[in-house]
Amino acid sequence: MSRRRRVYEGKAKILYEGPEPGTLVQHFKDDATAFNNAKHDRIEGKGVLNNRISEFIFVKLGDIGVPTHFIKRLNMREQLIREVEIVPVEVIVRNIAAGSISERLGIDEGTQLPRSIIEFTYKSDELNDPLVSEEHITAFGWASPQEIDEMMALALRINDFLTGLFMGIGIRLVDFKCEFGRVIENEMMRIVLADEISPDCCRLWDIETQDKMDKDRFRRDMGGLMEAYQEVARRLGILMENKPSERKGPVLVSTK
Ligand code: TMP
Ligand code: ASP
Repeated sequence: MSRRRRVYEGKAKILYEGPEPGTLVQHFKDDATAFNNAKHDRIEGKGVLNNRISEFIFVKLGDIGVPTHFIKRLNMREQLIREVEIVPVEVIVRNIAAGSISERLGIDEGTQLPRSIIEFTYKSDELNDPLVSEEHITAFGWASPQEIDEMMALALRINDFLTGLFMGIGIRLVDFKCEFGRVIENEMMRIVLADEISPDCCRLWDIETQDKMDKDRFRRDMGGLMEAYQEVARRLGILMENKPSERKGPVLVSTK
């Protein structure tokens, strides 16, 4: 493979310089981390699944008019994306209490929240991504009030869409984290969805069995992470990667 310039390496992904200015290649690694890298492992094949699942979700979101950084998938582990200036704020949307909100506010996991709740954390590994308010974000200049409004509106649209998408395949979207970036378009700054949306950054519970189908399986030492991610991909109808003949076109149903 030709030598590419590595622009950034995160815990689960690497960004390389893209083929054209303004583009990057986003490479999905097999690394799984939790609690800010305190727990770290490699789970063979996770990057391949997240690449496919995130592609599927970003394309669907693009179809309903959510602007994203996604251009196209390049191969099993990589996608071509637009280069963006990442807003240093993670946007979390919660529908059901789980994880840190349950601990912080003493709400039993699984409790339906009165409405979808948005939280912001400051992207800083050194500080462990602390929870912040809109006041912090605007006072420290991480995003403008208008950008916050835009990110919140997009996050809620993404939540509505994904809640329905997952509901249709028997999965409850408990919560998820998303990230946004700035791009210049027609001399205007615009906010687009960036990073990834995959079972690494969502909580997904099977509606019938309540089984966890997300990274909590790793965080909580439950095992079976690959099986769970594969099941998510299978239900989304995207697991036929190596069998294009089975993936394309209508399925022949016997009428006999
Ligand atoms: P939390 O309950 O640990 O705050 O997580 C809320 C959601 O955000 C959950 O779906 C996992 C996701 N998340 C990330 O993707 N990255 C992170 O660094 C953290 C803390 C959470
Ligand atoms: N992504 C964070 C980490 O790698 C936290 C998490 O997802 O639990 O440490």
